[in-house]
Amino acid sequence: MYDSDFSPNRRILVVDDNHTIHQDFRRILMSECGSDDLNLAADAFFGQKSVVKACMTDEIDDAFQGVEALEMVTASVREGRPYDMAFVDMHMPPGWNGLQTIEQLWQGDPCLQVVICTAHSDYSWQEILQRLGRNDRWLVLKKPFEAIEAEQITAALTEKRRLLLQRERQTHCLEKRVSLQTSDIRRAHEETVHRLVAASMFRDKETGEHIWRVGLMSAIVAQALGWNTTDTECIRMAAMMHDVGKIGVPDAILQKAAPLNAAERKVIETHTVIGGDLLSNSDSPMLEMAHRIALYHHERWDGTGYPTGLSGLDIPEAARIVAVVDVFDALTHDRVYRPALSIASAIEFIQGGSGSHFDPHIVTLFLASLSEIEAVQWKHPDCSVSGTFPAMMEMAGSC
Ligand SMILES: [Fe+2]
Ligand SMILES: [Fe+2]
Repeated sequence: MYDSDFSPNRRILVVDDNHTIHQDFRRILMSECGSDDLNLAADAFFGQKSVVKACMTDEIDDAFQGVEALEMVTASVREGRPYDMAFVDMHMPPGWNGLQTIEQLWQGDPCLQVVICTAHSDYSWQEILQRLGRNDRWLVLKKPFEAIEAEQITAALTEKRRLLLQRERQTHCLEKRVSLQTSDIRRAHEETVHRLVAASMFRDKETGEHIWRVGLMSAIVAQALGWNTTDTECIRMAAMMHDVGKIGVPDAILQKAAPLNAAERKVIETHTVIGGDLLSNSDSPMLEMAHRIALYHHERWDGTGYPTGLSGLDIPEAARIVAVVDVFDALTHDRVYRPALSIASAIEFIQGGSGSHFDPHIVTLFLASLSEIEAVQWKHPDCSVSGTFPAMMEMAGSC
């Protein structure tokens, strides 16, 4: 592994108050393989036969005091070229000693690997262990040391650093790929919803903006209820399908430009069950929520709604949210059989239905979010062309 993967482009910092030591590290770690001069120099320094096999780095920086080293380490991080490792002398008068220096360097770069170079120390090994902690960020090189010791420590630590960086890059790459695939799936999911809603709109009088607004306003109320981001995003899409069951209601009733009689109302009420069936038995949490909304969005808090007569908290919360925003939005926009009510009148209607038609807690939160609700209405007003299928897909694309 070492021979084939070793890259000499490593950054090493030597922190020592002795200029000769800097020169010696440079000779040991930067000399080419088989250099007689190097071997002679290393022999002279270490006082015995040294074995220098490879050029360990092409970048060694020198610091003579701890303060200077900290500036260099901080700058290396700021520039995005951190040091792979640092050799730190224990005695560096008049400034910080090695232990203080290492503690400071880790403030600048918590990942920096250090090698403590010492013949003797003002501290016991136990004290050093207590100060630096038992971790894999520091090693000890006791003086006098042989060149091979410095060389092998450098090889091991720089290789460890290379593998860590490689793993970080691979993890980042994988995360990016997963995130791209997730957003692809989300886009496909959302497009499917819009196409389904658009299909039901071919026959319904409702505009695309109504569908869009109900989704956005439901998300606002869900957020006010404290729902998390995922569920809030779910209801934004799921609420758009609240009336998808109208696809199964005859045109003569669906498109009638006058109030419906009792028999016709019974037929149109079946849109809840049809929509519920259409969206049932899905593994998707969003479609499962859409199923509950489609089936129960006409239930009433007091149990007088349809299709099942559920009441209070037995009605799924998502359906209780949509019940409020759907009625509010319908009231504040023109319909073929009546003109739009003012916002004030619609609010009065919603308040009047609190505790009978609507969940009172949701009404309170809806009214507290009124400025955001009105912003949605201004941003997505009804207009003649926007209820079409292409316009719906265009809105989806701009989301
Ligand atoms: Fe409905
Ligand atoms: Fe609606």
